[in-house]
Amino acid sequence: MILPVLLSVCLSVTNAVSITDIQGPAFRSPFEGQVVEGVIGIVTAKGPSGFWIQGNRTSDIRVSNGLNVFTESTTIIDSVSVGDQVSVTGTVNEFRTKGSGDLFGTELEPTNASSVVVLSSGHSIAPLILGVDRSPPTQLISALDVGPDGFLSVPNNQSQVEVVNATLHPNEFGIDFWESLEGQLVTVRSPTVTDFENKFGEFWVYGKWPVTGLNSRGGLTMTFGPNGILDGNPEVIIVGEPLDGSTNPHVAVGQKFEDITGVILQQFGFFYVMPLTAPTLVSSPSFTPPVTNITASKGACQITIGDYNIDNMAPNSTTLPQVAGHIGVNLKGPDIMFVQEIQDNSGPTDDGTVVANLTMQTMASAIMTASGVQYTFIEIPPVNDQDGGEKGGNIRQVYFYNPKKVKLAGNAPVGGSLEAVSAVTEPDGKVGLSLNPGRIDPNNTAWHDSRKPLVAMWEPVAEGGERFFTVNLHLIAKSGSSTFEGDARPPVNLGVQERSAQVVEVANFVKTILDKDKNANVIVGGDCNEFVMARSVLAPFNDILHEVDEVANIPPVERYTYVFDQQNEQLDHLFVSSAIASRGLEVEHVHVNQFSETIEMRGSDHDPSIAKLNIC
Ligand SMILES: *[C@@H]1O[C@H](CO)[C@@H](O)[C@H](O)[C@H]1NC(C)=O
Ligand SMILES: *[C@@H]1O[C@H](CO)[C@@H](O)[C@H](O)[C@H]1NC(C)=O
Ligand SMILES: *[C@@H]1O[C@H](CO)[C@@H](O)[C@H](O)[C@H]1NC(C)=O
Ligand SMILES: *[C@@H]1O[C@H](CO)[C@@H](O)[C@H](O)[C@H]1NC(C)=O
Ligand SMILES: *[C@@H]1O[C@H](CO)[C@@H](O)[C@H](O)[C@H]1NC(C)=O
Ligand SMILES: *[C@@H]1O[C@H](CO)[C@@H](O)[C@H](O)[C@H]1NC(C)=O
Ligand SMILES: *[C@@H]1O[C@H](CO)[C@@H](O)[C@H](O)[C@H]1NC(C)=O
Ligand SMILES: *[C@@H]1O[C@H](CO)[C@@H](O)[C@H](O)[C@H]1NC(C)=O
Repeated sequence: MILPVLLSVCLSVTNAVSITDIQGPAFRSPFEGQVVEGVIGIVTAKGPSGFWIQGNRTSDIRVSNGLNVFTESTTIIDSVSVGDQVSVTGTVNEFRTKGSGDLFGTELEPTNASSVVVLSSGHSIAPLILGVDRSPPTQLISALDVGPDGFLSVPNNQSQVEVVNATLHPNEFGIDFWESLEGQLVTVRSPTVTDFENKFGEFWVYGKWPVTGLNSRGGLTMTFGPNGILDGNPEVIIVGEPLDGSTNPHVAVGQKFEDITGVILQQFGFFYVMPLTAPTLVSSPSFTPPVTNITASKGACQITIGDYNIDNMAPNSTTLPQVAGHIGVNLKGPDIMFVQEIQDNSGPTDDGTVVANLTMQTMASAIMTASGVQYTFIEIPPVNDQDGGEKGGNIRQVYFYNPKKVKLAGNAPVGGSLEAVSAVTEPDGKVGLSLNPGRIDPNNTAWHDSRKPLVAMWEPVAEGGERFFTVNLHLIAKSGSSTFEGDARPPVNLGVQERSAQVVEVANFVKTILDKDKNANVIVGGDCNEFVMARSVLAPFNDILHEVDEVANIPPVERYTYVFDQQNEQLDHLFVSSAIASRGLEVEHVHVNQFSETIEMRGSDHDPSIAKLNIC
């Protein structure tokens, strides 16, 4: 024991740098790029890329007392054991993958094998108990998400966390909270899963601490907070690959696990807890796919509308029979299905095939087999490879409809791929369409490399009903956006300019119908690839359309059709004109996919929705 005593005396007289000095109260270390000598801490965890040390706390909650000692040298890693008190000389780095747009992770890289010295052994460090010692904030992600729509405000990437390098506000902002614990050993008590695992086997959880947006499944939903400000659920953390080389289990939303102890690490754009070992399952919710409570429409004044993005459906997709069952059995065969992502007859093979009649016929037959519901279908094929999505797949929106319940109204011809539909006044004075179905202004640049909306005019088969208009949408995707815990603030919402322009086009088209008849029945729906909380994007709908969830007063936490990263969220929407909204309606999101046991068992990444509407 002589050596450590000598060392600590020696270091105290030379004003040794402590772990808390290195971490500091801001996002970036005051010692970034510098060599620091004799940093002392107790080893709390070891992994394939180094180990973690922890020193004494200070009273400043902004400052972490844990640190990642980064090295790929097995000689160094093997030279220390958990519980050792060590002295490390090395360089302080702020690391992120080049060009990634992630936050930096603070690490100490030993100069060489002899710059890591074991001073003594057998120490223990009690983990910080999250939910007891500290709890994450539950609403705001970053102080830099300024703008009326919080982290969904447009324009995006107005500032970067690592450039501003603010001191942390751990009680207010999610990334500040997790940054203030970077490198520390923590325990997440009774974790609940909020997403399926990603392709690396990592998954998001919240522990036994206050959460917001809690839905009846146990997931967290993106909502507005009580103050009307967006709630991004920063109270989740990803469980990374276990440090002992064991493998995480497959997980599902709502599953509960035994306590997880591990160290907090920033990597790949998120804050992780790196578990010491793989967690153990405690309980699972029911995996039985739900069935809608909405009953069949009755009479000429009622219709049921389903909406479902069926994820790159080709004639031979293995998910086809399952999705057919969702439509026929779980949604009980709505009168009209708004479907997105029907591929052409050759699926993703980029061979010039555009016609999709085999895909649609195979789907209709499978729905018939599953449920006895017999659908007819109608669509307008795109121009080959011009509508985005999986290369060669030529995805498009299709209406599947029950010809015993509804039929296309009027005598307008079917539109071509490059023909634009318009609202017309028919000889009897009623508003009609120039093409039925037709596409909205397909040459408009707003639809470049994206799906053109499919418009149709219908009437009930039963006598005494009224005509109604539908717009089946699939707006441009968000893929490639930056992470919710990334450097860019607000995070980059990819395609938001294009999506906004598309919403303007749709709103302008709907207005041309309503200008001719303000009481027209109009239903707009599909995969909008956007949240209603991105209010500026959907603002053009404000005065003309009503979201059905809002009309039906669905609890905000139950408004979701998707799960991504930390939370459940709603990308799929149905909007109705005032005439329909004023008559009252029913709506359900049927979580056939988000309630799956594993991610592989899902029929699609989206859940379908169903609404019962009154058209007269
Ligand atoms: C970040 O902030 C800390 C604490 O205020 C400061 O010491 C450090 O130099 C800053 N780093 C950069 C790169 O601005
Ligand atoms: C931590 O605090 C204890 C008690 O005050 C002290 O003996 C020890 O030297 C400190 N450790 C470090 C690494 O500063
Ligand atoms: C955000 O903007 C900065 C500064 O223009 C740029 O360097 C960075 O790449 C942008 N981030 C993303 C994720 O696009
Ligand atoms: C290893 O690094 C230490 C500083 O921690 C330095 O004094 C020593 O010379 C280095 N040893 C070798 C072999 O490079
Ligand atoms: C059907 O109603 C029950 C009871 O209100 C509810 O728990 C269930 O979630 C509903 N099903 C769907 C698909 O919404
Ligand atoms: C579907 O058929 C294509 C050829 O058209 C083939 O490449 C693909 O592997 C098939 N998929 C399945 C699931 O059988
Ligand atoms: C698809 O359309 C082509 C051309 O009209 C026709 O020959 C073929 O039989 C159709 N296939 C199905 C499955 O309906
Ligand atoms: C769209 O452009 C094509 C030529 O690329 C043209 O044939 C078609 O008429 C245009 N459609 C409209 C609605 O202007």
